[in-house]
Amino acid sequence: LENGVARTPPMGWNSWNTFGCNINETLIRQMTDAMANSGMRDAGYQYVVVDDCWMNPNRDSSGNLQGDPTRFPSGMKALGDYIHSKGLKFGIYQAPLAETCAQYFNSYPGSTGALGHEEQDARQFAAWGVDFLKYDWCSPSGTIDDQVRTFAKMRDALRATGRPIVYSINSNSIHDKTGPRRNWSDVANMWRTTEDITNKWDTGQTNGYPMGIQNIVNVTVPLASYAAPGGFNDPDMMEVGRGGMNDTEMRSHFALWAVMASPLIAGNDLRNMDSATSTILKNTNLIAINQDSLGLQGRQVSNDGTRRVLAKRLANGNVAVALFNQGGGTTTVSTTASAIGLSGSSFTLRDAWTNGTTTTSGTISASVPAHGTAVYIVSGGGGPVPTSFSLVSQSSGRC
Ligand code: DGJ
Repeated sequence: LENGVARTPPMGWNSWNTFGCNINETLIRQMTDAMANSGMRDAGYQYVVVDDCWMNPNRDSSGNLQGDPTRFPSGMKALGDYIHSKGLKFGIYQAPLAETCAQYFNSYPGSTGALGHEEQDARQFAAWGVDFLKYDWCSPSGTIDDQVRTFAKMRDALRATGRPIVYSINSNSIHDKTGPRRNWSDVANMWRTTEDITNKWDTGQTNGYPMGIQNIVNVTVPLASYAAPGGFNDPDMMEVGRGGMNDTEMRSHFALWAVMASPLIAGNDLRNMDSATSTILKNTNLIAINQDSLGLQGRQVSNDGTRRVLAKRLANGNVAVALFNQGGGTTTVSTTASAIGLSGSSFTLRDAWTNGTTTTSGTISASVPAHGTAVYIVSGGGGPVPTSFSLVSQSSGRC
């Protein structure tokens, strides 16, 4: 979406994965402080996103949204001001229909979706200083055309406010996520590719609920051609630091989100990150790959079911390569410089995890543990800097 924002994948934190409906203004302020004090802000994380359950179920007498009076007694404008005072940006949640998702599933007593209040809510968000809106369709009803119309309505309402606001959407599962995926880049800055993520490597789902890391990768890799500055596939908030996976899997999860040009929205409790989590989330090489100005999503070079290779061309002509082992034992995952679009006889490989460099005349390979992902930034070659990168056989992307 050409609205001036999300020229690279948005980075931030969202309350849902760890806290669900158990949120309040103290928690969000603490997380804002943690974002600033933990080095996350300096690493590039910007948006503090308050997900579902912040609302007062009743609009005010003029029909305006209000924060829950018990849990957000200072009001949402004050919360936004606090987030801004820490050099961060304010994200909030709303749903396009009559109810939000938590109300739909009866886990939260009362909410008020935007249906019939779209312009009013957009104006309210702008007045509160909102910089990011997550707009979450939560109903089995609605055709794809209904959804396009409805999501476009809020897109236009946000634009009319004049405030730059990242527009993040989650369309309905039945009419979108089980069929051929629509490219939502005409409507939003980021769009979910699957049902909700969970902190497991593999839930065996092809597109159900909940989705593990491997399952989400399977769905999102073939959508690579949709990603560009202004619009990115969204494989959901990250589960790094939430348990349920070993360190190799956590690293792999982050590396794959980085190379897939996915929004990097942390979902863990930032107040008490262990050092493994903090090191993963702040990896400067992977963040640079993710935030590269070309905004390309890594394309699939090969996938034999166990060994999967993705490559992401970068603005300076280098190429980031992910060597992903989907199998249950250590194996060597390989590709070549020519397979990733580089020509020449000598290349430098920078390991994104260790920062160490090696040289190669063409073979790019690593011994990768089960579920691991090695990432190299490949430079050099003596040949011309590649200007195109047409590796992809998208149809082979699903396994
Ligand atoms: C469904 C979304 O997929 C989640 O990320 C979260 O926003 C919940 N709805 C909130 O109810």
